[in-house]
Amino acid sequence: MTNEELSTMVDTSDSWIQERSGIQERRIAAEGELTSDLATIAAERALGHAGVAPEELDLIILATATPDQTFPATAATVQARLGAKNAAAFDQQAVCTGFIFALTTADAYLRSGLAKTALVIGAETFSRILDWTDRSTCVLFGDGAGAVVLRAESGDGRVQDRGLLAIDLNTDGNLKELLYVDGGPSSTQTTGHLRMEGRDVFRHAVVNLAQTAQTVLDDLGVSGEEVDWLVPHQANLRIIDGAAKKLGVAREKVVITINRHGNTSAASIPLALATAVGDGRIQRGDLLLMEAMGGGMTWGAALMRW
Ligand code: UT7
Repeated sequence: MTNEELSTMVDTSDSWIQERSGIQERRIAAEGELTSDLATIAAERALGHAGVAPEELDLIILATATPDQTFPATAATVQARLGAKNAAAFDQQAVCTGFIFALTTADAYLRSGLAKTALVIGAETFSRILDWTDRSTCVLFGDGAGAVVLRAESGDGRVQDRGLLAIDLNTDGNLKELLYVDGGPSSTQTTGHLRMEGRDVFRHAVVNLAQTAQTVLDDLGVSGEEVDWLVPHQANLRIIDGAAKKLGVAREKVVITINRHGNTSAASIPLALATAVGDGRIQRGDLLLMEAMGGGMTWGAALMRW
């Protein structure tokens, strides 16, 4: 869906949307297409790229705030569709920071020996929870899915090891009114619509994304200049640029997909990863810095050697 199409639905314009957010277009799931459908396609592609059979998976974590149903977990549907009969599967919900939370959870399973091969998916159909009469939110979000396969391997405990090298996760539930959905099974018995205080979320993002990313850089003892790729959550081009500048990561090292995808919440980082791996920018051994923030409020960052 292009900005032009949106401007026939609400009082907005291509120039406003591009100037304020960097978004040119976003994807909308087809009628009847579910989060599990998008997640399954992404999962199958990731397994194919990794050369891993579904039966080898012992863990599937699906990061989503837009599940098919209240329960069962959408991950259970994906597990069945993949034929991943040896995998425990569950959803994890940290909205736009969901992928970093899910990656961290999978990493903890691998490190503890509870799992050996994990699939982490970020999949969303935010189009289903948007108020399509609210121009301040409906122009910003889109649908999508991305996935990664993680496998336990022993390393040397050095910066050169592959996998997750540093993680920082944060939550401040006092800020939940800034970005939330005004419905749910326990409160209204309806699905509800996304509500956001955009300006306040923006202010929060600029400060906290740079802080959480700097924390993981300091933990690993590397500088922003040593990062090969910044793969940020795609909420707003100005937020992405602001954080990159503060961290000292050059613009050409920032993976940007917001122009094509809009904000796809938990799917945005794996979609950006898939884009930059697919076009050959991200190579094995590259050091990736990921950062995200979203409803909760939640925010966090991870350093990963690809
Ligand atoms: O992933 C989860 C995290 N979410 C985010 O990170 C989003 C963070 N926030 C943002 O990205 C930005 O705040 C927005 C893109 C949502 C808005 O940009 P802004 O520069 O903060 O604009 P604003 O909210 O201050 O609005 C400026 C004006 C307002 O008019 P007045 O009050 O100045 O007369 C709005 O009513 O723009 C108006 N406006 C619009 N105009 C045209 C709001 N939405 C639209 C629209 N088209 N779609």
